[in-house]
Amino acid sequence: MIVAGNWKMNKNATETAELIRAVAADMGNTDTRVMVAPPSINLAVAADAAKNTNIKVAAQNMHFAESGAFTGEISASMLLHLGIDHVILGHSERRSIFGETDELLAKKVDAALANNMTIIFCFGEELHDRKNDIHFEVVKNQLTEGLFHLDSKSWQNIILAYEPVWAIGTGETASPEQAQEMHAFIRKTLTDKYDAALAENISILYGGSVKPGNAKDIFSKPDVDGGLIGGAALKADDFLAIVRSA
Ligand code: PGA
Repeated sequence: MIVAGNWKMNKNATETAELIRAVAADMGNTDTRVMVAPPSINLAVAADAAKNTNIKVAAQNMHFAESGAFTGEISASMLLHLGIDHVILGHSERRSIFGETDELLAKKVDAALANNMTIIFCFGEELHDRKNDIHFEVVKNQLTEGLFHLDSKSWQNIILAYEPVWAIGTGETASPEQAQEMHAFIRKTLTDKYDAALAENISILYGGSVKPGNAKDIFSKPDVDGGLIGGAALKADDFLAIVRSA
């Protein structure tokens, strides 16, 4: 199981260190892989606060180039220099607000893997896709365009995060059955493209309004391997309750 907190554009440097320390202090011994992804400006502080804890720090995004004239961007080598080797790619807010396309994401995926980083790759349908009953098709397409150029070996460094856009930050989650149905579809799609062993070994997280009150039901589904948590990751108690549900 993996529980990852996507902090989005929240917390200053001081608050970042405080929240990581608070989570670390009460986390206890857990087999769950716990990750937090603060904004890039606070990654150095976060890496420092997470030292000697079981919390992994991840970036929320990165550019595909190693360096150069890309104002406002950060590279894989800059992250690695801080000891950060996990990155979220393809979050729906990057796709919809910042115009990141499947094609761009495929380049970022390649850059992260070339640098031996682990990717939390996000994807998921919008509400109108589900209403039009094309959500399976949309998800399969996002996987195909973003990841299916990879060979099987590269998948060792991929974690998937299915996040239906209509459930992100809305308080409305997919039902545990809807999550399970899509996760099983994702595994079947991976089996068809690669093989059953690869499909079984991939962690598939659910994201979208996961809270202490619903985490357990969602995590109890056989194909759900944890969660990507937004709002509820910003309070140590809530985040820890979700970690415990895993
Ligand atoms: P939420 O965000 O938990 O606030 O819905 C999830 C996400 O965007 O990863």
